[in-house]
Amino acid sequence: MIGREVQPTSYPEGEVRPSHFRVAEVEVRSPGPGEVLVRNTWTSVDAALRIRLRPRSPEGYFSGFPLGQAMDGIMTVGRVVESRADGFAPGDVVWHAAGWRDYALVEAGKVALNGIGTLTRLDTSVAAPQAYLGALGGNGLTAYAGLFRIAALRDGDVVWVSAAAGAVGSLVVQFAKLRGHRVIASAGSDEKVAWLRDELGADAAFDYKRGPVAELLGEAAPDGIDVYFDNVGGDHLQAALGALRRNGRVAVCGAVSEYAAAEPQPGPTNLFLTVSKDLTIRGFRGSSNLDLLPEHQRVVGGWIREGKLVQRETVVEGLEHAPEALATLLAGGNTGKTLVHIAD
Ligand SMILES: NC(=O)c1ccc[n+]([C@@H]2O[C@H](COP(=O)([O-])OP(=O)(O)OC[C@H]3O[C@@H](n4cnc5c(N)ncnc54)[C@H](OP(=O)(O)O)[C@@H]3O)[C@@H](O)[C@H]2O)c1
Repeated sequence: MIGREVQPTSYPEGEVRPSHFRVAEVEVRSPGPGEVLVRNTWTSVDAALRIRLRPRSPEGYFSGFPLGQAMDGIMTVGRVVESRADGFAPGDVVWHAAGWRDYALVEAGKVALNGIGTLTRLDTSVAAPQAYLGALGGNGLTAYAGLFRIAALRDGDVVWVSAAAGAVGSLVVQFAKLRGHRVIASAGSDEKVAWLRDELGADAAFDYKRGPVAELLGEAAPDGIDVYFDNVGGDHLQAALGALRRNGRVAVCGAVSEYAAAEPQPGPTNLFLTVSKDLTIRGFRGSSNLDLLPEHQRVVGGWIREGKLVQRETVVEGLEHAPEALATLLAGGNTGKTLVHIAD
């Protein structure tokens, strides 16, 4: 059988463009012992893929994507076509980490993406399969672990979330609101700011492009913040350190403002505030908190069943448009979870 897969052909310097990729036709063989053949239906598009479009990714992170090969380590859902592995049968809806291709041959039990991408059967009675790429999957786990474990959210904490209209950010806003917190949200357009305030219930929201972030944050949170969920880094992190109250916490989830930079970016110049205000800055990977996945899926699955969670999607039709979807996301053209719909 012939299938298609997206392969990077050159590493972008700065902006990602579809011309950095090609769609290749490849032979898909039948599964061997212990393997499962999956027809991928939805595949994820993530800001962090940008970090891997280089020969070597930062130490400790998922490896860079080799040129001219399928991109391994991207979350995807699909339907089992053929199985030679115990526990999987044709028709099962699964997630795995061999995304950005039509068909995937997956070895059952082989650990992928730190464990979050290991072949797993999904319960689609809770939500549609693609929700397992968003609220019920790695993005949801990242938001849940970042807020409740890493930032150790406490009653009464005021929370600021950056890149708040994106996949992870929009969940952080809602999880914190559902737990009764005052939430400040920032994003890059008037439409996103309105959505955050009117649909997601953020108490205040601002467009970070409208002025110095520290000033905009000061207006939105005149009494300061207790927790900063950092998706952006750079001037946003610097502004957060200024606004945090004593014993404040930063959960460093990502630094999307720095991903396309060719040179290392300067750090915050106000780090002494961590000393003077007893602050904690803690980076984390969602997948390093896999032990929280059952709790996260139970709690968030409950919010979905009760109709309390907005799950907005930016859907791009057709595998061949996955590179375009990534370029659009990095430029801020997405709202909510970005997905590529490969097949029904
Ligand atoms: N630690 C983990 O395990 C983990 C897991 C998943 C994701 N992440 C991180 O979470 C963050 C969000 O990722 P995602 O996949 O959910 O993507 P996303 O938020 O859906 O999309 C990325 C968003 O970043 C914003 N952005 C781009 N350049 C920016 C800049 N220079 N300054 C401020 N905002 C900028 C854009 O929105 P605007 O219109 O608002 O600019 C864009 O929509 C990333 O930092 C990612 O690396 C971490």
